[in-house]
Amino acid sequence: MSAIPLDTIQDYKTVVRERHSVRHYDPNWQISQAELMEILGEAALAPSSSNTQSWRFFVFHDKALKQRLLPIANNQQQVADASATVAVLGDIEGYKRAGQINGIGVDKGYMTPEFAEQFTANTLKGYGGLPPEVLTRISLVDGGLVSMQLMLSAKARGYDTVPMGGFNAAKLVEEFGIPSNLVPVMLIAIGRAAVPGRLTPRLPVEEVTFWNGEGLK
Ligand SMILES: Cc1cc2nc3c(=O)[nH]c(=O)nc-3n(C[C@H](O)[C@H](O)[C@H](O)COP(=O)(O)O)c2cc1C
Repeated sequence: MSAIPLDTIQDYKTVVRERHSVRHYDPNWQISQAELMEILGEAALAPSSSNTQSWRFFVFHDKALKQRLLPIANNQQQVADASATVAVLGDIEGYKRAGQINGIGVDKGYMTPEFAEQFTANTLKGYGGLPPEVLTRISLVDGGLVSMQLMLSAKARGYDTVPMGGFNAAKLVEEFGIPSNLVPVMLIAIGRAAVPGRLTPRLPVEEVTFWNGEGLK
């Protein structure tokens, strides 16, 4: 069970310390589409390369659909038992929406039309010239950031999550007819814990930090 009462927005320090990967969910617990949209909306406040927001969310909410996902995710039961499993995808053509994104920025008064036009032109030119493998890398980085924010946003509401790389990306694409411009980043199960996530150790931060690069080699 979640240690945090549902509907309670927790402070950052609590959220970041209490988030643990949960692999056993209450299969009867529903999270509404509206609440999932709120969580996804907060996740999408994450930073992204040139604000291109190339993430796309394939939400497995329907019970039968989650069952179809199960074998593709190495039969990790959380995929089916969680209220939803989100396949975070990266759109390698996502930069093409720069005009739309910057248009919203103009409408909201965040930028001038001139700035938006220039920014859009730069993005279309710059990203349009990149090879697919570089665009894929960008999508994976941005997809990772949005995924983390999704998990923290869920936790802030008292829900638990687990990120999953243990799935067959090719089969996911094939089974659900995902277009070739969308690259699977990870799956994230989200729901109400039936069994709390176990604590996991971390390396001392001093061992993974190199002041001015010293000791890195
Ligand atoms: C990219 C990525 C892929 C992961 N894949 C899986 C997975 O397929 N199945 C699983 O049970 N946990 C998976 N995990 C969860 C990790 O095992 C977990 O985050 C790690 O052990 C630290 O534990 P914590 O999340 O509770 O802090 C994955 C985590 C990440 C970041």
